[in-house]
Amino acid sequence: MSTERFDQAAAGWDAKPRRVQLAHAIAGAIIATIPLTRDMTALEYGCGTGLVALELAPHVHKIHGLDSSPGMIKVLGEKIAEQGVTNVEPFLGDLSDLQVPLDLIYMSMTLHHIEEYVELLNQFAQHLKPGGVLALADLDKEDGTFHDDNTGIAHFGFDQDVLQKQLAQCGFGAIKNQTVFNFAKNDRDYPVFLLTAVKG
Ligand SMILES: C[S@@+](CC[C@H](N)C(=O)[O-])C[C@H]1O[C@@H](n2cnc3c(N)ncnc32)[C@H](O)[C@@H]1O
Repeated sequence: MSTERFDQAAAGWDAKPRRVQLAHAIAGAIIATIPLTRDMTALEYGCGTGLVALELAPHVHKIHGLDSSPGMIKVLGEKIAEQGVTNVEPFLGDLSDLQVPLDLIYMSMTLHHIEEYVELLNQFAQHLKPGGVLALADLDKEDGTFHDDNTGIAHFGFDQDVLQKQLAQCGFGAIKNQTVFNFAKNDRDYPVFLLTAVKG
């Protein structure tokens, strides 16, 4: 997938209040749900400008912020420098290049951009330590009206039953789901879930 759209959006990404509100709700739900500790090493896959990562950073040892968009990674780097954050490391590249055992992998509103996401879930299982936690926040199944432009949208949200079965097939257990935000748009709500699972 071309990164051009996200590259162009990066500089103004944090200027949309509802986007910031959603990321804040997801970060809060992760903090409330997963027992984070200061010795944990985490990966955010598709970290964008780091709206979630910068909130989680004080609760863990380190967060690798991976994104495919150079524009997003540049903005994250600028925010890290401005805020003096020392434990979030921007990573522009492929997951296979990150050879670090991980305690936590999470995604916030990125899964729906990934066509072959089951393959990615399998890779996550390989990168997590036994007992490591995976957290996925994304849209419940929707009708394709959430995004104003569906370019680069691989999935119109996710069916929980299907996603949970796929996670189990990838070797995850203790799968739990909750709704953490209702995104009000088009005179309706689009629920956002947080699914957590543990590598067996
Ligand atoms: C909707 S944004 C979410 C950003 C951030 N997680 C947040 O909640 O604010 C999706 C992000 O995923 C990144 N992305 C999309 N496809 C990707 C892929 N295949 N690999 C890595 N990052 C990807 C985009 O560049 C973008 O920064």
